[in-house]
Amino acid sequence: GLKIATIGGGSSYTPEFVEGLIKRYDQLPVKELWLADIEEGREKLEIVGNLAKRMVEKASLPMEIKLTLDREEALKDADFVTTQMRVGLLAARAKDERIPLQHGIIGQETNGAGGLFKGLRTIPVLLDISAKMQRLCPNAWLINFTNPAGMVTEALLRYGQHKKVIGVCNLPIHTRITIAKLLNVPLESVEIDFAGLNHMVYGLDVRVYGESVLDHVLEIMGDPKKQISMQNIAPIPWESHFLKSLRLIPCSYHRYYYKTSEILKKELESFASGNTRAETVIALEKELFELYKDPTLDIKPPQLQKRGGAYYSDAACNVINSIYNDIGDIQTLNVRNDGAILGISDESAVEVNCVVTKDGPKPVSVGQLPVSVNGLIQQIKSFEMTAAEAAVTGSYDKALLAMCINPLVPSDYLAKAVLDDLLEAHKEYLPLF
Ligand code: G6P
Ligand code: MN
Ligand code: MN
Repeated sequence: GLKIATIGGGSSYTPEFVEGLIKRYDQLPVKELWLADIEEGREKLEIVGNLAKRMVEKASLPMEIKLTLDREEALKDADFVTTQMRVGLLAARAKDERIPLQHGIIGQETNGAGGLFKGLRTIPVLLDISAKMQRLCPNAWLINFTNPAGMVTEALLRYGQHKKVIGVCNLPIHTRITIAKLLNVPLESVEIDFAGLNHMVYGLDVRVYGESVLDHVLEIMGDPKKQISMQNIAPIPWESHFLKSLRLIPCSYHRYYYKTSEILKKELESFASGNTRAETVIALEKELFELYKDPTLDIKPPQLQKRGGAYYSDAACNVINSIYNDIGDIQTLNVRNDGAILGISDESAVEVNCVVTKDGPKPVSVGQLPVSVNGLIQQIKSFEMTAAEAAVTGSYDKALLAMCINPLVPSDYLAKAVLDDLLEAHKEYLPLF
């Protein structure tokens, strides 16, 4: 029988994943879903695990939900492993967001200084899972949701023992769904040629029933009332002439790079009133777990849509389904480049459209990226590579270098000051430093 293991199973996102598995049960008959977590997550695991059991029971499916604090037991003979953990929990995220802001620079969980530290905490844990998989389930695919997914996939591909790794993000599918709604056409008719890096991906073209509608979509995106954004990113409008001259679809996260000053201003305003995204999410999680505890609840509550991870379950389940059933459809995933984007080395992680079959995802070749975006992509790739090296070696110098390379860190002195503060704040989760 099909066994899936989810590491970080106590996450508030788990009902989203379970809903996706229930919807697809006909094609994807999961016999066992193992939700594994650590001791600190015991209570959340129980609450969310019991909700998962009620959801499966309501659907009258013979899918067994197993809860465990023993990671190895969960991994043993799994066919697919998904990872969705947060090392240091939301308290650590709050530090990643707040400490850079205290120094007057962008504070974000996957970009800039905060993203670097989320990576430094997470990469060693995922490399350990990778090593365990090699021993306990060598044929399984590792489907990683843990952020920063690009940097983490880079590290897993370069330094991990287990090479069957796929990084997943909900942003590409979220963008596609939003564009389909804006155009009022069926989702299936919309194709977007995505290429770039995680949270740094561009739509090179968008077609409806095979015809390019790129210029039309960019016109819509230039309308301040029709902004495409994830729930966790302020939908500050794009400058319409910029979109026209770029002639590519930027992703929500590109606002941090093309609108740094506006975003920073907004972040500093809410920081001054005591709030970053982490605090908003902490409050939302409290509300969610109160709902999850209700023994009469047996569906995913709509409140979960307020999280940035909306449609994450579709992204996760689609890739599992296409591998399991050898579908051969196109999905946007973080994989080994293998020549798909010219100018990025073969062994680096990129986020590109892939054909997904039983042999896993094969990236579709896109050639050279346009001059207008190639520089930024290269710079972020250098950042991810340097950060991944810092994470596995514990090198202070590499961590400082990564910080200075990052375009959201505007000074070397500032980089060192922020680095020292973050190292101190997170030291319990950074044993190598
Ligand atoms: C987006 C990103 C995810 C990220 C999430 C944060 O969906 O693609 O990678 O985890 O936003 O959402 P949150 O509700 O935690 O701020
Ligand atoms: Mn993401
Ligand atoms: Mn810099």
